[in-house]
Amino acid sequence: MLYSLLKPILFSVDAELAHEVSLEMLNQFKWLLPQNRVEKPKRVMGIEFPNAVGLAAGLDKNGEYLPGLARLGFGFIEVGTVTPLAQDGNPRPRMFRLIRHRSIINRMGFNNRGVDHLLRQLPERPRPYVLGINIGKNLTTPVDNALSDYQIGLQKVYQQADYISINISSPNTPGLRKLQTEAALDALLHGIDETRKSLQDQYQLNRPIALKISPDLDDEAIPAIADLMRKHGIDALIAANTTLDRLPVAGHRLAGETGGLSGKAVCEKSRHVLSEFHRVLQNDIPVISVGGIDSAAEANKRLELGASLVQLYTGLIYRGPGLVRKIAEGLPG
Ligand SMILES: Cc1cc2nc3c(=O)[nH]c(=O)nc-3n(C[C@H](O)[C@H](O)[C@H](O)COP(=O)(O)O)c2cc1C
Repeated sequence: MLYSLLKPILFSVDAELAHEVSLEMLNQFKWLLPQNRVEKPKRVMGIEFPNAVGLAAGLDKNGEYLPGLARLGFGFIEVGTVTPLAQDGNPRPRMFRLIRHRSIINRMGFNNRGVDHLLRQLPERPRPYVLGINIGKNLTTPVDNALSDYQIGLQKVYQQADYISINISSPNTPGLRKLQTEAALDALLHGIDETRKSLQDQYQLNRPIALKISPDLDDEAIPAIADLMRKHGIDALIAANTTLDRLPVAGHRLAGETGGLSGKAVCEKSRHVLSEFHRVLQNDIPVISVGGIDSAAEANKRLELGASLVQLYTGLIYRGPGLVRKIAEGLPG
């Protein structure tokens, strides 16, 4: 209700500025919001999720808006992508609304204040939501050394995260998606598994690890990725990140902007990678579906296609924060 009043004002300014103002307001005025909690517990990756609706990575890169976000009713919140060192990301403007497609193009480029800053923001346990931390590599780290950045991320967040996501699918860090090719992924996941084993011994804790992939993968690449996930003990797949495809928004004046496309325009691709991965992973490894979910009907569709959990980002911008509760209430209990 409040969001429908604010939306025309927010949509009249630069998309990133509107985003920052909305999150700041959410934190400042959180006490005005009821504590939305939807209890429909679901066990995935060995974790009890209060409900199956999550916030996708990228909206709260530094974990600075958790107090406000916690009130919206999410069963889980994924913060990040965070890199070992702080970095600015690409020059602004770098986020664009394609309103008639209910979509966004972004080329943020992992702007974040670094993993140590993020860790200082996190509330102590117990938390009313499951907390995922999404890790990536710094722009200045060559792709061939990417493993070392992921290892730093893992070591730093291991205790505080409830699960950790490995982001190898942002289109805005040059070369990152090459990590999805078979040989590179085998080496990367091997190194991640080694680090995880030593952290398990050190802390006597098992933190699940999820792999976040691109919706632009060829179908032929999917079985090999699934095999590598099994081989290296990856606990979940997050499908998917933004797309480089512009077919769904062809003709829009902003379609030529560089970056990843999200929202309704990625819906079909996101459904497709979910189905393909579910077919090969069966029920061995759960899939978290993300991309173009903006209603309970669409979230239910993803569960039918094999998803265990769902996440959203762009839907929130177009439909407002009340969407979280609406979807959570519309899912099976
Ligand atoms: C502005 C913006 C920034 C994003 N930043 C990240 C990020 O840092 N890490 C990541 O894994 N995904 C990031 N994403 C991708 C989302 O997490 C999600 O995978 C994608 O947007 C598809 O979901 P949606 O259609 O619900 O937005 C970002 C998306 C947007 C729109």
